[in-house]
Amino acid sequence: MGLHTQELRKTAQSLIAPGKGILAMDESNGTCNKRFKAVGIPAAEEYRQAYRQLIVTTPNLSNYIGGTILYDETLRQSTQDGVPFLKFIAEAGMIPGIKVDTGAKDLAGHPGEKVTEGLDGLRDRIAEYYQMGARFAKWRAVITIGEGIPSRACLEANAHGLARYAALCQEGGLMPIVEPEVLINGDHTLERCAQVTDETLHRLFNQLYTQDVAFDQMVLKPSMVIAGQDCPQQSSVDAVAEATINCLLKNVPATVAGVAFLSGGQSAEQAAAHLNAMNKQFGKQCPWRVTFSYARAIQQPALEYWGGDSSRVAEAQQRLLHRAKCNSAASQGEYSSQMEQEKAAVLA
Ligand code: G3H
Repeated sequence: MGLHTQELRKTAQSLIAPGKGILAMDESNGTCNKRFKAVGIPAAEEYRQAYRQLIVTTPNLSNYIGGTILYDETLRQSTQDGVPFLKFIAEAGMIPGIKVDTGAKDLAGHPGEKVTEGLDGLRDRIAEYYQMGARFAKWRAVITIGEGIPSRACLEANAHGLARYAALCQEGGLMPIVEPEVLINGDHTLERCAQVTDETLHRLFNQLYTQDVAFDQMVLKPSMVIAGQDCPQQSSVDAVAEATINCLLKNVPATVAGVAFLSGGQSAEQAAAHLNAMNKQFGKQCPWRVTFSYARAIQQPALEYWGGDSSRVAEAQQRLLHRAKCNSAASQGEYSSQMEQEKAAVLA
């Protein structure tokens, strides 16, 4: 048994306890600024701090959220009252986590494909983050569907990186979230997405096994099996739920601690509906809990409403909390479109 085995198991179980999911708020400065720009918020540290403060100080967030994933800048910031965000999050009853990859870069010799970097010096960074109070980590690999891609080179390189990262995290006491994202961008069909996700997960678990990663001490963060956003034939909620669960049941060992999806550019309502259908229709067949680790599908309505205006913080927090509540219900198969109307009434 490893030095951190019990702690890693406990971290995984608390993050995705029944009714809970994970809130991803680990956008790099570049991505955060891009999202700010789209709604007219200045690209400045002051606004990034204010926005992250808005999120973590949302009253009752821990009713639905087991942990939040931070970016390095946020991990070192404090609330306006001088409480480090890490401390604030832990005292609010959530586990703080950290994104440790350094981004998806062009894969040499493979136009249009990416490989995620960040292994150099990772052991030392993990030790620092653990010492600061983080208890889990995230690494995102990006797989693009297109003509003739993904290549075997791309799938293998990304799977290897994810496995090396996960092994280092488990050695250092951070529970790894392993995120292979098959992008929704493109005009591919649901069937093609199913085929690529199947191969991605197959190669990933092969590498995780090779690197001796303990499955019961990791959480898988996959994308859903869904038609590309430009595909003329869009998928029904039931089709997404069925294809996604089939793909997971085929490739994900039963001992994996849990599955927490990314939203990947789906609308907030779609992401909740898909998660709900998976749990409602297939929950009994799944050996792992199936929940959420969303960024945009939880944050976007709050970000758009806030717009950088301090007088709008409280209501923006209500919007954020509402999305967290909807997804919490969806993670138990108890979400319905009625919940969207309840919000409209509360905010009217
Ligand atoms: O790495 C991606 C995020 O953690 C999840 O973001 O839900 O907006 O796809 P998303």
